[in-house]
Amino acid sequence: MAGRAVRAVLIIAVILGPVVVFAVGAAAPGNLQPTLRSVAAARHLVLGTAVRLTAVDNDPSYDDVLATQYNALTPENEMKWATIEPSPHAFDFGPADALVDFAEANGMVVRGHNLVWQEQNPSWLTDGHWNRDQLISLLREHIMRVVGHYRGRVAQWDVVNEPLAEDGTLRPDIWSEGIGPDYIAMAFDWAHQADPRAELFLNEYGIEFGGPKTDAAYRLVAGLRAQGVPVEGIGLQMHDPVETSPELPALPVVMARLNSLGVDVAVTEMDVWLPTASAAADLGAQAAYYRTVLADCLAAARCSTFSTWGFTDRYSWVPGRFPGYTDALPWDSELRAKPAALAIRAELARGNPFNR
Ligand code: XIL
Repeated sequence: MAGRAVRAVLIIAVILGPVVVFAVGAAAPGNLQPTLRSVAAARHLVLGTAVRLTAVDNDPSYDDVLATQYNALTPENEMKWATIEPSPHAFDFGPADALVDFAEANGMVVRGHNLVWQEQNPSWLTDGHWNRDQLISLLREHIMRVVGHYRGRVAQWDVVNEPLAEDGTLRPDIWSEGIGPDYIAMAFDWAHQADPRAELFLNEYGIEFGGPKTDAAYRLVAGLRAQGVPVEGIGLQMHDPVETSPELPALPVVMARLNSLGVDVAVTEMDVWLPTASAAADLGAQAAYYRTVLADCLAAARCSTFSTWGFTDRYSWVPGRFPGYTDALPWDSELRAKPAALAIRAELARGNPFNR
């Protein structure tokens, strides 16, 4: 009797074994095979995500998915002015160094973010009463020190972040008001001096579907290029609620227009927000949104980078910043691949028989 029972258990185990292993494998996120990263390599795509040092340091399952599935990272906050130059002329590279080290240890490239912005500046900078020459000198020192520190280790820099207002005028901020419009050209020139091989981007939100702000970005970069300023890419942030999908047909047109300036475009900070009330039902629409944008990037003349603003709903700025929206990223808060992750992989594998 006992022998027969053992045999029965063995037979059941043999039959069910692969099912169980498959189920466990599918649930363990690091085991999404083939990985997004492997199919991205075959397409020569920089496939990135923003990352947080607190998560890298404390969450091994986060690190596992990050290093397995992505070939690039962007520090989410660690290179911003308030963190990296917290008091005048005193730089703290510690947090950003840890992320650059993580990238290098895992064969990932780094997008540096960012050098000039109106937000997340230290109060010593924003509350100071600087004249134009002082501000120029502070900005020059900041860029030379930060870019110089990472020379050869940061492949792409968001040099100027969000310089435009919605109506296409230059955003009134500490830089445009304190220095004037020339701060943009200065910033690119200094970044290029500090690391001639880094690819330098102007990064902006809300320019992916056309309109006055897109026109302004086009004119701004055209003017900079005409002056010989070393701007080589335009970043489309793409923080989009899912209901924006009717606008998507405009994206390839915008990409082609910006490419015609002789610069790359990159998707730099994509997240697709789902209304909290319908998040579960909207996962398919979210997947389709990610897939369309990735397909447009792959089809564009020059779009070599596709990066999301985080990868897991466990850590995302969206619910805190945009109440009523949630679950904007390709992996869920348990680090399971969502339909969006599978759609990204399917699009990367399309047309490549080795990566089906
Ligand atoms: C956001 C971070 O995700 C948050 O953690 C932080 O509190 C605020 O900034 N555009 C950008 C990013 O260029 O730097 C912003 O990141 C999101 C919008």
